[in-house]
Amino acid sequence: MSTSKVRELAASMSAPPVATSSNEPDAAQLLFDTEEPPPFPEMNIFPLEWRVETPKLQQIYDASRVPGWSPHTLPWDTLDPEAFSLDERYALAYWFTLLSVFDGSGPAVFSRAFIHTWETHEEDPIRKCFFSIVRDEVNHEEVCQRAIQTLTPNGPLDYEPETPLGQLARNNIKWYYHNGCRYWNGFKNGVTKFQLPILFSSFLMGEVASATLFHSMYQRTTIPAFKEAFKQVGKDEARHMAVCLAVLRNVLPHLTDEQRSVITKQIRAGFIFLSGILYVPPEAFWELGPTFHPAHRMLEVKAREAGLGILTEAERAENWREAVLRLKGVLEPHGVEFPALPEVGIDGKTVAFDPDDIIPVF
Ligand SMILES: [Fe+2]
Ligand SMILES: [Fe+2]
Repeated sequence: MSTSKVRELAASMSAPPVATSSNEPDAAQLLFDTEEPPPFPEMNIFPLEWRVETPKLQQIYDASRVPGWSPHTLPWDTLDPEAFSLDERYALAYWFTLLSVFDGSGPAVFSRAFIHTWETHEEDPIRKCFFSIVRDEVNHEEVCQRAIQTLTPNGPLDYEPETPLGQLARNNIKWYYHNGCRYWNGFKNGVTKFQLPILFSSFLMGEVASATLFHSMYQRTTIPAFKEAFKQVGKDEARHMAVCLAVLRNVLPHLTDEQRSVITKQIRAGFIFLSGILYVPPEAFWELGPTFHPAHRMLEVKAREAGLGILTEAERAENWREAVLRLKGVLEPHGVEFPALPEVGIDGKTVAFDPDDIIPVF
């Protein structure tokens, strides 16, 4: 209410302001002198309102309040490092370290996105859903932590491997983290630059990818602690996917042509980044050392022998292709051209790739 309106209101009140016996002004008297503060700046973090535009999001949030699992209660006591050879231990820990480049960045990446939903005053259940995703990602990161620490105490970096394969694993890991740091720089810029439809199309890509990955590994692994972990993480990822779909259902029918072409580019960027865990890391983004690829293949074979449940490269390509086609089914009806993804045999528009603009999340 403006200052003049407040004065008008005070003046219109029946009784004139009367000083109280204690000489304290009463409320009606004070109302004459109120002033409004300057308007709140844009991007302030105080929405002060709780709009619900998408009841589906509220339902998803309510269902996520009690996640039903916790990383510290998984059967870690059944994961006995002595049951594996040294190279098998290194290979298993190696895979969880690669995963942590994606899931370990999840807490910070989603926290940044979570803050952004407050700055941009998104409807209340979007903000709440991001809160639950941050919590889930902290849990996923803890799964990586516990697997690595059980198999290679103080790993991945402060552990001295005793075999050549273990040393190759450590070198590969450093290269992966180097790329993870580059991703974070791109994400920080992108998350505040892009509008909701673009952000959520990219987020959906990551969630489709991770739900696919964990589902397949849950089916394949023979290691009980990992089986339970993959099952629970996969359920969380499916919920994240549902959040993205609920938001996109609202925003995709209102896309501008410019947004459509940015989404096409972002799908290609997401594919390149996420292939680092879903398939094999493409050169377009991934800066890797000269021994990375042969060492990576040896470590995958070893981890598979140990029972981790990694699919073969051909199986992964097929899985990734199916996941991407599901995404295509969501976006194409809204006029979004799909990019060419020749790595998994998908035709489409050839688009440029900008490593500074990667915003998919896991
Ligand atoms: Fe995750
Ligand atoms: Fe996720």
